[in-house]
Amino acid sequence: MALPGNPQTPGMNILIIGSGGREHTLAWKISQSNLCRHLLIAPGNAGTSALGTNLAIAVTDFDALAKAIREHRVNLLIVGPEEPLVKGITDYFRGKAGFEDLKIIGPSAEAAQLEGSKSFAKAFMQRNGIPTAGYREFTAENYEEGVAYIRNHPLPIVLKADGLAAGKGVLICHHHIEALAEFELMIMRAKFGEAGKKVVVEQFLEGIEMSVFALTNGNEYVLLPEAKDYKRVGVGDTGLNTGGMGAVSPVPLYDEELKRKVIERIVEPTVKGIREEGMDYTGFVFFGLMISGGEPYVIEYNCRMGDPETEVVVPRLQNDLVELLLAACEGRLAGMKLSFDLRTAVTVVAVSGGYPGEYRKGLPVSGLDQAPLDDCILFHAGTILSADGSEVLTNGGRVLAATAFGDDVRDAVELASYMLEQLHFEDMYFRPDIGYEFRESDKAPEA
Ligand code: AMP
Ligand code: GLY
Repeated sequence: MALPGNPQTPGMNILIIGSGGREHTLAWKISQSNLCRHLLIAPGNAGTSALGTNLAIAVTDFDALAKAIREHRVNLLIVGPEEPLVKGITDYFRGKAGFEDLKIIGPSAEAAQLEGSKSFAKAFMQRNGIPTAGYREFTAENYEEGVAYIRNHPLPIVLKADGLAAGKGVLICHHHIEALAEFELMIMRAKFGEAGKKVVVEQFLEGIEMSVFALTNGNEYVLLPEAKDYKRVGVGDTGLNTGGMGAVSPVPLYDEELKRKVIERIVEPTVKGIREEGMDYTGFVFFGLMISGGEPYVIEYNCRMGDPETEVVVPRLQNDLVELLLAACEGRLAGMKLSFDLRTAVTVVAVSGGYPGEYRKGLPVSGLDQAPLDDCILFHAGTILSADGSEVLTNGGRVLAATAFGDDVRDAVELASYMLEQLHFEDMYFRPDIGYEFRESDKAPEA
C-alpha cells in the first residue's frame, strides 16, 4: 500500500497513538518533518486522515499495535494518552523480541505512576524535595485515623483517589461533613474503583494554575513553551470540569523570575529524581502547577502532553519535532537549541451540546472546505469520516480545536472564535472567553 509522507527521503515510519486534538497536532507537526516518511495514527480522527494513514486499532490493544508496527516497519512510536502508558505499553515493547530497535516516546508503567498514582507522585515529590501541597494518605486500614484527620483539617479539603479516574477523582470539599461522606464513599464503597480505595488528603492551595512541559530521557531534558488551560465548561470558569475548553501560550504571568523558580525547584529535581531512582522515562513530562503567592507548587504530574495544551505549545515550536524526539531517544537532548514563535497562541475548543454530560455523536460538521485563514490552524479532536469518506462527523465531546496566533491574547481569541464561527454542527458550543484574565492588558494578575 502506498502511504503518504515524504517518499523522497529515507526517513522514518512514525506511529502516533491516540485520537484527540493532541494527536492531530502532533501529526500536523510531524508531517512537516523531512525525517518522517510514513505517518500512521491509531486510531486517529478525520483530521489525522488527511496527514497520514489512520489504523483502526484501540490505544490499549498492544498485540494489534505490535502487528501494525511490524507490518508498516514503524521506527518511532509516540504514545499520546496516559492510559496505554499506565497499562505498560512501553514495557510491552521493550520486552518483545523483534522490537529492540523501536524507539518509543512514552515512559514505562513504573514511571507513568507519576500520573497514574497520586500516592506515588506525592511520595516522589516528598523524597525529592519538590514543592507540593501537604498531604496524608489513607486506606481501609487507617480509615478511622483519616476520619479524625479530616475533622481537624482546615477547609477547603482536597481528596484525591489514588488511581486514574478519567479526571473525576479529585474532590475539593468546602464542608467537613461533605469531605467525610466522600471519604467513606471512596474507601468503603470504591466510588472510584479499586485503585481509588487509597485516598490522598491534601491541603488546598489558592492561586493560579498553569502548566510547564519538558521532553526528557530521564537524564537530560528540554523545556517546551508553558501553557494555561481552561477546564470549566462555562464562561468565567463556571460549571462542570471538562477535558479542556481552550488554552493559551505563553502565559503572561510566567516571567523570568517565576520560570527560574520552576526550573530550579521543580523541573531539575524531577529529572534528577527520575534519573536517580532509575526510572525508564523517555517522553514528555507535564507539570501541572499552582502559583500561590508567587511561588510554584506541583499539583500533579502527567506522563504525556496535555490536551488542549498541545494545540498551543506545539504550533509555537519552531524546531523539527522528529529531530527532538530522536535526540531524546538517542541521548542527544542536551545539545538541542529550541526556538519558539514569540506571538501568542490560543486554542478554542468547540464541543458537542451537553458535554461534559451526555451528548450526541455522528452529527455532520459543515464549513470545513473553506480556504484556510492566515495564522490559524484547525485541529480535529473528536471527529470521524463517514463510512463513504464524504463527510466529517462528530465523534466525541470535544470536536474541534481552533488555534490562532495573535499579538496578544485578545487578538488570538478573536481570530480563533472567527474561525469556529465559519464552521457548524448541531448544538456546537465554545467558550468565547478563553484567556479572559489576560485580555484587558498583558499585565499578569497577582498570583
Ligand atoms: P488533578 O487531577 O490533580 O489535576 O486535580 C484536578 C484539579 O483540582 C486541578 O486542576 C486543580 O484545579 C484542583 N486541585 C488539585 N489539587 C489541588 C490543591 N491541592 N489545591 C487546590 N486545587 C487543587
Ligand atoms: N488539559 C489537561 C490534561 O491534558 O490533562
